[in-house]
Amino acid sequence: MTILVLGATGKTGRQVVARLREQGVDVRAASRSSETRFDWADQSTWAAAVRGIEAVYLVAPEDPAPIEPFVAQAVAAGVRRFVALSGRGMDKVMGRFGAGMAEAERAVRASGVGWTILGSNNFAQNFDEDLWYEPLLAGRLALPAGQLREPFVDVEDVAEVAATVLTSADHDGQAYELSGPEAITFAEAVETIAKVSGRPMEYVALTPAGYREELLAAGLPGEVADELNALFEIMREGHLTIPTGDVQRLLGRPPASFTAYAERVWAG
Ligand SMILES: NC(=O)c1ccc[n+]([C@@H]2O[C@H](COP(=O)([O-])OP(=O)(O)OC[C@H]3O[C@@H](n4cnc5c(N)ncnc54)[C@H](OP(=O)(O)O)[C@@H]3O)[C@@H](O)[C@H]2O)c1
Repeated sequence: MTILVLGATGKTGRQVVARLREQGVDVRAASRSSETRFDWADQSTWAAAVRGIEAVYLVAPEDPAPIEPFVAQAVAAGVRRFVALSGRGMDKVMGRFGAGMAEAERAVRASGVGWTILGSNNFAQNFDEDLWYEPLLAGRLALPAGQLREPFVDVEDVAEVAATVLTSADHDGQAYELSGPEAITFAEAVETIAKVSGRPMEYVALTPAGYREELLAAGLPGEVADELNALFEIMREGHLTIPTGDVQRLLGRPPASFTAYAERVWAG
């Protein structure tokens, strides 16, 4: 059995590759800069990526357009299962956010082969591998998150779930919701990282308009600023707040706490 891991250099894909290889599974790691070159924007790279593959870890691109043709090509080449990484609560999003993830959910459900959706809360690793890292290092993370609570999920748990689900047919037709064990405010998250790392850091609550202004001033395009504001609007509505039991059910142990993540990643 060979498993194709898309987004193989990314936050989750990198760890999915490592976990599957630890289990002795044959893995094809793919992305624009991986050992197998795969580019959503270049269909000529798809055939070699899907040849001889049984299951695909699907990390959706932002552009929904190539997803359905890719899924169709993969199924025609013999793929029997997709595990799609997505955002939790995409059914509440109604086109405001994550068009690529929504299309990936739709396309794998309609693929005619096995599928599982991993709808994830915000990753704890957004604080050290993504958009919130540079502002935190500069000592000020400013977001339109007010006092909203988010049960950040550790990417290591997402990857362990993905590796479990990719190698078993028991999860076909399931949509899981992956969260951490407790919902905390952004102020609490930043305070925890500051304490563990010993660096001065503060969380500043912005209005959506103030956030948009700051993103534009930092050079982000208007549509990216609007998309990020939509994500926080969905979070403020509370759709993602209550922790779920799916990581515990799937792994037989509780998900990692935010403090455990911070101590592993941010300690002095
Ligand atoms: N961050 C969160 O809190 C969160 C929560 C839930 C869901 N998600 C979803 O998770 C997905 C991102 O997954 P991630 O965080 O594991 O990855 P990531 O860290 O955002 O990295 C993106 C990956 O995609 C690859 N990639 C980028 N452009 C590509 C292209 N044109 N063709 C092929 N591969 C491409 C990159 O590798 P190369 O540069 O080598 O191509 C990299 O491996 C997104 O759909 C996001 O919406 C994120």
